[in-house]
Amino acid sequence: MVTLRHLINAEEQDSLVSELAAELALEVVAQSEDELALRWSGERLSLHFPQQQQGDVFVDFVGGAMQYRVKHGGGFGQAVAKACGLSPRVLPKVLDMTAGLGRDGFVLASLGSEVTLVERQPIVHALLADGLKRASVSEEAQAIAQRLSLVKADASELALQPFEVVYLDPMFPERKKSAAVKKEMTAFHQLVGTDDDADILLTKALELASHRVVVKRPKGAPFLANRKPSQSLTGKSGRFDIYAIRSMAPGKFRSSDGE
Ligand SMILES: C[S@@+](CC[C@H](N)C(=O)[O-])C[C@H]1O[C@@H](n2cnc3c(N)ncnc32)[C@H](O)[C@@H]1O
Repeated sequence: MVTLRHLINAEEQDSLVSELAAELALEVVAQSEDELALRWSGERLSLHFPQQQQGDVFVDFVGGAMQYRVKHGGGFGQAVAKACGLSPRVLPKVLDMTAGLGRDGFVLASLGSEVTLVERQPIVHALLADGLKRASVSEEAQAIAQRLSLVKADASELALQPFEVVYLDPMFPERKKSAAVKKEMTAFHQLVGTDDDADILLTKALELASHRVVVKRPKGAPFLANRKPSQSLTGKSGRFDIYAIRSMAPGKFRSSDGE
């Protein structure tokens, strides 16, 4: 795991930067290319990696891959949506205990579910909060972001009311042989490390979920806490383990026509 020391500010130091630096206990430095740092461009927050060819990592719900996925990603047919039991007539309230850069949560919210995102890593939380704030520049992204709420906390310590679905996607040790680890994942592994305490989350998730717990795992990974799920959906790159508690038949959930 890496400790982030710097917040790079290309612009003149403003109050937002000072506040963020104080909150995250980072030193503000001027433009520097050769250190892992958080960067405030004046418009957005990103994670700067010195040896990264593809550029900085930031959360973008307005353009790029996320909007493409919203429009052409397969809607309710997407594996994460199926695993969480979403359909036009079943839009459960979801607690995402491992929010990360918020992609899975955003996909579920784009289909109509209300999603509470929990992230404990302060830098990742700051990136996600910044991405959600910037969603307001697009009406479409903003409408989705309004269904997302973000909490900075360790999800295993939260006292919450039950959620219909609880979703987990903890970090897993990087597989050395995989050549094409996405840049975000590499970034995450450097910053967040591996979530070795993820087994505890499953116990907490099973306490909080009224209908099902869904755990995203890499293909071939052992079950979380060695606990066998009711069912697994296996795709090309990964697997969703479903711990069913109660049937998700339509009628008891919010639906896309507002019933
Ligand atoms: C693999 S990433 C999740 C990626 C996310 N599903 C997405 O679509 O962007 C895992 C994240 O969960 C966070 N995390 C792990 N355990 C947590 C816990 N107990 N409470 C809150 N966040 C946690 C890590 O800090 C990391 O950012």
